[in-house]
Amino acid sequence: MKVLFVASEAYPLVKTGGLGDVAYSLPLALHEAGQDVRLLLPGYRDLLRKLESVRILGWLELQGANRIHAARILQAEHAAFPFPLWVLDCPELFDRPGNPYLQPEGFDWADNAERFTVFARSVLELSRDTLQLGWVPDVVHANDWQTGLVPAFLDTLPQPPKRIFTIHNLAYGGHFSPVDFVSLHLPGYWWSAEGAEFYGGFSMLKAGIVYADAVTTVSPAYAKEICTPAFGYGLDGLLLSRSYKLSGILNGIDMDAWNPAADPSLAGFYSLEQIEPGKRLNKTALLKRLGAQDPDSHLAYPLLGTVGRLVEQKGVDLILNAIPELLAQTDARFALVGTGHGYFEQRLRQLAAEHPDRVFIFIGYDEQLAHLLEAGTDLFLMPSRFEPCGLNQMYSLRYGTPPVVFHTGGLADTVVDASAANLENRTANGFVFYEPTTSALRGAILRALDCFAQPRIWQQLQLTGMQQDFGWENSARQYLALYDKGETI
Ligand code: ADP
Ligand code: GLC
Repeated sequence: MKVLFVASEAYPLVKTGGLGDVAYSLPLALHEAGQDVRLLLPGYRDLLRKLESVRILGWLELQGANRIHAARILQAEHAAFPFPLWVLDCPELFDRPGNPYLQPEGFDWADNAERFTVFARSVLELSRDTLQLGWVPDVVHANDWQTGLVPAFLDTLPQPPKRIFTIHNLAYGGHFSPVDFVSLHLPGYWWSAEGAEFYGGFSMLKAGIVYADAVTTVSPAYAKEICTPAFGYGLDGLLLSRSYKLSGILNGIDMDAWNPAADPSLAGFYSLEQIEPGKRLNKTALLKRLGAQDPDSHLAYPLLGTVGRLVEQKGVDLILNAIPELLAQTDARFALVGTGHGYFEQRLRQLAAEHPDRVFIFIGYDEQLAHLLEAGTDLFLMPSRFEPCGLNQMYSLRYGTPPVVFHTGGLADTVVDASAANLENRTANGFVFYEPTTSALRGAILRALDCFAQPRIWQQLQLTGMQQDFGWENSARQYLALYDKGETI
């Protein structure tokens, strides 16, 4: 099958979160399964700089906001991609420094509606082979709101390719104004409750849901949750009505990039067969990297950590609120890495300043440090209020760092609580709590620390997680089955 995979970010070229990991690993897994894959990305400045041997495939004229953009489709090579990488090069919209979606001050780029409409329009042109490349996709797989208009534009073709739309996070809807709708010259019939209209504006995510042949989410549990008002962001009714084409396919992880036995970001390698001294070397290196005075003096104490976007979704406030009591009641240390809302960053800085010998932080985005943290901590904290899939808990399982998670979405699908029964039948791999509150999180952490003090149980937990196969093969097979289904699902 010819598969055009469309995303707004892909590791290792540009990544702000798990979407970037998936948009690299899934196309790769599809390629390895014998499919003819192309990955299309926007030509951000940092991305263009990383490309090797770029070739111009052709020029496109694309309607923007009351102006036409002359853009180029590039075909590029990069060592990480064994299949052709396509890039929409449109400097007015994408040749900017920094984050793909946000200005340096943290606000959305003011022209995001135009940027991602133009990106989606390029997919329409590629799908009808405007550039006469002789390559017409059988399947177009779009991801998240930035590509939500892709299934909608493809709907205008007499014989559209099969359109798959994956929701990685329903919380980001790509909502824009009626003024944008008009200036972007979007088809009038989309402006309807049955189309892209959403509470007086329009939603690119909704367009993706409405016009795709199949909609997927990144875990089975999240596919169910988003059909309820609590998780639906106003789209639960629509999703419920489309449940005939909605399914959940659990993400995999890149088992090569995240392999404690060969991870170049680590200070010591380790594996299922032999965890120590490798894991301990990483604990020392992590503490050192985070500025601990005498890293070895902390080795005897449990080190609890997290890395991620500092936003409400991730339950950062629950962690921040739980820490003071845990510091008083236990001998735990904390290693916290992330970037996000200024408020959370400020509170983290404050905690670290108040407890320089117990709380170690890094505010920023650092891929290598994320790997070191997964390896160097004893317990990984992920109390997300909702989590479409979550990759970090799977990385931590693979790195012998049992996760503590709230029972939601992909966390519920991957983490098995260390209850007496689950320990007995050897399925337990972490700690689960069932109310999104500070006290429930603290309770789970105290339970975890209790287990940590019992080496035999702890090792069993570590080994159960490390043994699990979270590779992409299984997920890729499920996507292929979906691509293969008939015209209507
Ligand atoms: P989400 O996509 O919601 O942010 P995931 O758990 O699916 O959550 O994926 C997060 C990815 O982003 C992981 O690969 C994680 O290591 C990475 N990440 C998040 N924040 C940082 C950071 N500050 N530094 C380095 N990597 C980070
Ligand atoms: C989103 C979700 C996260 C998921 C990732 C990749 O960013 O928040 O749960 O793992 O996408 O699908």
